Amino acid sequence: MQRKHVIMTPADFFGIEYEINAWMHEDNQVDHAVAVQQWQQLYNIYTKQLGWNVELVQPVEHLPDMVFATDCCLMIDGKILLSNFRYPERRPESAVFAEWFKKHGYTNIKQATHFFEGGGDNLLCGNKILAGYGFRSDPAAAQELEAYFGLEVVPLHIVDPFFYHLDTSVAVLDHETVAFYPPALDEASQRRLRAAIPRCIEATLEEAQGFGLNAVSDGHTIITSNESKSLLQKYRDAGFEVIGTPILEFRKSGGGVKCMTLTLRG
Ligand code: ARG
Repeated sequence: MQRKHVIMTPADFFGIEYEINAWMHEDNQVDHAVAVQQWQQLYNIYTKQLGWNVELVQPVEHLPDMVFATDCCLMIDGKILLSNFRYPERRPESAVFAEWFKKHGYTNIKQATHFFEGGGDNLLCGNKILAGYGFRSDPAAAQELEAYFGLEVVPLHIVDPFFYHLDTSVAVLDHETVAFYPPALDEASQRRLRAAIPRCIEATLEEAQGFGLNAVSDGHTIITSNESKSLLQKYRDAGFEVIGTPILEFRKSGGGVKCMTLTLRG
């Protein structure tokens, strides 16, 4: 079992200031106290319960989605491909995170040229990158990924606007296991995913809507939304330890546990 090293951004300035996905409605505002409490609970699971190393990036006022730290880049073997966000509302986040990386000694940083939303759309499974596109990242980002990281890329076309980022419908559980909600992807992509990954667990719409596919795993323990009991049971049946935590205040923005967690690799 690996003690992970991750980045989180405190939820101080989290809220719904604009609408850029199907979950977000400015008239469905966040209960800030509840959001901060849910964030803190997740932070405590990582640091106290699991003993992970969690580094914090200072949040910036009016960048409410900075709390979804995974979106800022994809990092593999110390190499960082910095996000090129589709919506102008999120674009300033890249520079803030880049600054943090430089200050902490990361030198291998490249800015993506095509639309590319980091860990939101790109998941490492074994030595393959599952690369979602359709709503945020551009399909052309796949070539850039392959060239930069030198890894096989499995392009997956996302077709359901409620699962606009790949990490809302596909969870990497270990180097050969994913869980996913098939209809979020077109049929050719479902076939590509099944061909690329030895073990694929299927989730229902209801399970996916509870944000339980927005999951972080160290290969042994899965940390995710506690909303769907049946999905947590599927994870247990597959041999994983499971920690469910309340996170739905962030679903108002289309986010969950995985979105708030950027894994530092190398
Ligand atoms: N409100 C954010 C957006 O629409 C949510 C991002 C969630 N991040 C994720 N990795 N799914 O961009």
